[in-house]
Amino acid sequence: MSGSIVAGVLAPHPPHLVYAENPPQNEPTAECGWETLRWGYERLRKDLEGIDYDTLVVLSPHWQTYVGTHFLGVPHFKSLSVDPVFPNLFRFHYELDVDVALAQAICSQAGGAGLVTKMMENPDFRVDYGTIVSCHMTRPQWDKPIVGISSCRATSYYSVEVMQKQAAVLAEATRKAVEESGRRVVLIASNSLSHSHFTTESAVPEDMSKEHIMSHGQHMWDMRAIDLLRKGKTQQFVDEMPEFTSQAISETDAGAFTWMLHALGMPEYEAELYGYGTVIGTGNAVMAWYPEGK
Ligand SMILES: [Fe+2]
Repeated sequence: MSGSIVAGVLAPHPPHLVYAENPPQNEPTAECGWETLRWGYERLRKDLEGIDYDTLVVLSPHWQTYVGTHFLGVPHFKSLSVDPVFPNLFRFHYELDVDVALAQAICSQAGGAGLVTKMMENPDFRVDYGTIVSCHMTRPQWDKPIVGISSCRATSYYSVEVMQKQAAVLAEATRKAVEESGRRVVLIASNSLSHSHFTTESAVPEDMSKEHIMSHGQHMWDMRAIDLLRKGKTQQFVDEMPEFTSQAISETDAGAFTWMLHALGMPEYEAELYGYGTVIGTGNAVMAWYPEGK
C-alpha cells in the first residue's frame, strides 16, 4: 500500500517548554511557565491521538551540517542532551529509535535528485536539542521511531532563495520516499517564527511577568505569517519567506518550514492554530496541517 503524509506540524523547540513540563527525563524542574504554548501542544497531541501513523520525520535547525543534508542512520540513540545556552533548563536524558529504512530511502531519493546527502552512522552522535524538544512536545511517549534530518544552512551559505529551492527538492524526495515506504508519517518543522531574543535571563526563568515579544515589528510579522497560513495562503507565505526571514530574524532560515510546506503540497486549506506564545522574546506558533483530515 502506498504510504502518505498524514500531518505536518509546526513544532517550535525552545527548551523552556520541556523545562516547564517537568518530564522525568529532564534534570531541572520548573514551577510553571509558557502555558499558552504548552496548552497548544496538548491540544495538538489530542488531535494526533486520533490519527494512525508510524514515524515522525523531523528537520531541525540545530543539527547544522554545512556540507549537504544528513540523516540519522543509527537504529537507537541514548544519551544526555544539554542545551548549550540554557544548561540550567535543559539536561535531558533521551532514548529514541530511528526509522533507518525510511531515512535511507529519503537520503537516496534526495541524492538522486541532485542534493548532497549523507547518512550519519556514528553511534556516539549526540542528537540535537531541537529534534528532541519538538519530538518530545509532539509525542512525549517516545514510542514512535523518528527520521532526523539536518539543516544544511543554505541560507547562511547562499540566500533564502537558494535554501527554498533546495528545501523544495528535499520535500519532493521525502514525499516520494514516504509513498514508496508504505509508511504513514507525521512531518515536523522544528522552528520558531520571529527569533530575535533577549540576551539576559530573569532570576526565575519561568517568571511570566518578564515574558513578552521582543518588538512590535516581530509581533506584526508573526501575525502576518499566521494569518496567511490560517487562510490557506501557503504559497504566498512561502513567496514572502525571504523578507519574513530577514525582517523577523526568523528561524525559518533553516529550511524546515519550507521543506514541510512543500512536502504537504502547498496547502490551500486552513492550517490549525493550536497556540502562539513568546519564549525569551521569540515568537512561536504550534500549528498543524492534515492532508487527509483529522
Ligand atoms: Fe532554535
